[in-house]
Amino acid sequence: MTHITSMLIVTCTESLLSHDEECFALYLFKQSIPHVYFETHGVRKFDSWKITTNASDNGSSNCCLWDGVVCSSDEEIPDEISQLRHLSSLDLSGNPLKLQSPSLEKFVQNLTGLEELDLSGVDISSSVPHFMANFSSLRSIVLYNCSLQNEFPWAILQLPKLKFLDVASNPNLNGSFPEFRNSLLEHLDLLDTSFFGIVPESIGKLHRLTFLCLTS
Ligand SMILES: *[C@@H]1O[C@H](CO)[C@@H](O)[C@H](O)[C@H]1NC(C)=O
Ligand SMILES: *[C@@H]1O[C@H](CO)[C@@H](O)[C@H](O)[C@H]1NC(C)=O
Ligand SMILES: *[C@@H]1O[C@H](CO)[C@@H](O)[C@H](O)[C@H]1NC(C)=O
Ligand SMILES: *[C@@H]1O[C@H](CO)[C@@H](O)[C@H](O)[C@H]1NC(C)=O
Repeated sequence: MTHITSMLIVTCTESLLSHDEECFALYLFKQSIPHVYFETHGVRKFDSWKITTNASDNGSSNCCLWDGVVCSSDEEIPDEISQLRHLSSLDLSGNPLKLQSPSLEKFVQNLTGLEELDLSGVDISSSVPHFMANFSSLRSIVLYNCSLQNEFPWAILQLPKLKFLDVASNPNLNGSFPEFRNSLLEHLDLLDTSFFGIVPESIGKLHRLTFLCLTS
């Protein structure tokens, strides 16, 4: 069975893309969905997702009218995302979004199957929830420049599949280093954070580490 496991968020305000480019990106997203998905689910949802070849409107399409697409000029991340229990990859980076109501804690509480999370540039302004250390599928966490606060749960650094962790540019984020276990960690970026304390010798167990930045 094929699941759609990624989501695309289009922001119509302050976007680098024009409206037509955004519509075309959505269209390409539809085209990328394997045919077998439509065959097994009989989804007619995407029928309206068409780029018109109507010369009189320059071949553009108003994708805001497509089934399931909502164009909005406010900066609330849609709540529905937090109910996608099978979501494996979530990338909202680079959008001028705020994640305060719901908080990051509420927002991710049921996204237990996440493998990749990138919220770079999203204004989170809260702590990273401890329970994320139980999201055992996580391979990549990028929370660069998110105004994170308080202590980073060190147990996240011990997630067995974690390869990539970037929490740089969060000056109010502090934390200390755990004993490292043999792990797959390749990239650890803590630039411009307030991590403190001694780096344990067990960091030598991170045989795959190719990028390490601990400067604060
Ligand atoms: C083409 O676009 C024009 C202007 O938007 C509209 O009036 C016309 O009905 C469209 N034609 C077709 C075939 O969709
Ligand atoms: C997460 O799941 C629980 C249990 O099903 C539910 O009560 C809660 O509202 C869900 N949280 C979110 C943010 O969807
Ligand atoms: C951090 O994010 C804010 C808000 O999205 C943005 O204005 C700022 O340029 C970003 N700073 C860096 C260093 O990326
Ligand atoms: C992680 O899951 C275990 C087992 O379900 C639970 O006992 C523990 O409290 C959880 N840890 C966190 C930080 O949520």
